Amino acid sequence: MTAHPIELTVNGRKVSGQAEPRTHLADFLRGELGLTGTHLGCEQGVCGACTVLVDGMPQRSCLTFAVSCNGDDIRTVEGFDGDAVMAELREAFAAHHALQCGYCTPGMLVTARDIVTRLGDVDEETIRRELSGNICRCTGYVGIVGAIRQVAKGRQPQPQNWSFEARAETAAASVAVESAPVAPAAAPMDFSTSGDGFSVLTQQVTVPAPADQVWAALGDIRRMAACLPGASVDTVEGGRVTGSLTVSFGPIKASFAGEGEVARDDSSRTGTVKGRGRDAKGGSSAAGEIAYTVLAEGEGTRIDVTVRYKLTGPLAQFGRSALVTDFARRMTETFAANLTAMLTGGEAQAPAKAELNLASLIWQVLRDRLRRLFGG
Ligand code: FES
Ligand code: FES
Repeated sequence: MTAHPIELTVNGRKVSGQAEPRTHLADFLRGELGLTGTHLGCEQGVCGACTVLVDGMPQRSCLTFAVSCNGDDIRTVEGFDGDAVMAELREAFAAHHALQCGYCTPGMLVTARDIVTRLGDVDEETIRRELSGNICRCTGYVGIVGAIRQVAKGRQPQPQNWSFEARAETAAASVAVESAPVAPAAAPMDFSTSGDGFSVLTQQVTVPAPADQVWAALGDIRRMAACLPGASVDTVEGGRVTGSLTVSFGPIKASFAGEGEVARDDSSRTGTVKGRGRDAKGGSSAAGEIAYTVLAEGEGTRIDVTVRYKLTGPLAQFGRSALVTDFARRMTETFAANLTAMLTGGEAQAPAKAELNLASLIWQVLRDRLRRLFGG
């Protein structure tokens, strides 16, 4: 396979090198740059040992292709020498006997620093939930949690905000809705986290149909669910709905059964959908809220969407990566494409996918990133 030139900023230093399209970031950091502080445990995104910061966000370097990080800012555990929070964490880990073999420690420290800076003074339950994507096989978690709690005490959350450029990938709209019309280009998506542990995504989509029509369609929750891959509605009683959402990610498959409340305000054309669900087999839980505003824009309609969500359990490890924001953007586009098809061609043209396949969607995201890099 052909190697491609890439340039990264690693621990504050510009570096360049060659990577094959399938080379993972962890292998590039360890093999090409000699930064062996990043450990590889499971190599399939489960243990968290390989966690590094990519553009300020913790990310699994065993699941990230090096070429997809071209131009990104990477920080590994070796890159925190002058960092006051990391210095405190290192001391606290030692004082609380939070490491034995130390294999998990690089990923633990990177995640711990993210918890402390993002959330400030957090309680033990939150720390345990936030750490659910990092596995330690030696110590149990009492020392690790105690160390993080100590460093977090009295701290204020630091503002975190990352913007992802809109990408001109109209082909992306075909993901999982191959026969649907091309969705309009999505506006930039903002990703941030709130003090209560929720991740927040905001995005705008435009639909080529009049605002009245879009507003009316959004009021029919069953038709809306048909536009969202993997979603189905079982009952609707007033503003209460029950239903399910099925997702699969390689070996992990989750079928969230849950309930929610729907509210709408005709005068401001704003609406909210709040819901929570649990995957009885896998043990993951999800809670979230979608708030939307429908605005006439020329002959079409702009929908401003804010999604707040919190995942716990095995799926939490995928909760805050750049890949997930790409994925969420793709989901919004898919929804917009299906909505457009429904409004312009009737429901039969809005294909509802039986299941939301994260692996397939993430592959599409990676493929598009590679295309952008190499013009393939
Ligand atoms: S090595 Fe990356 S998550 Fe385990
Ligand atoms: S200290 Fe050994 S795996 Fe965590």
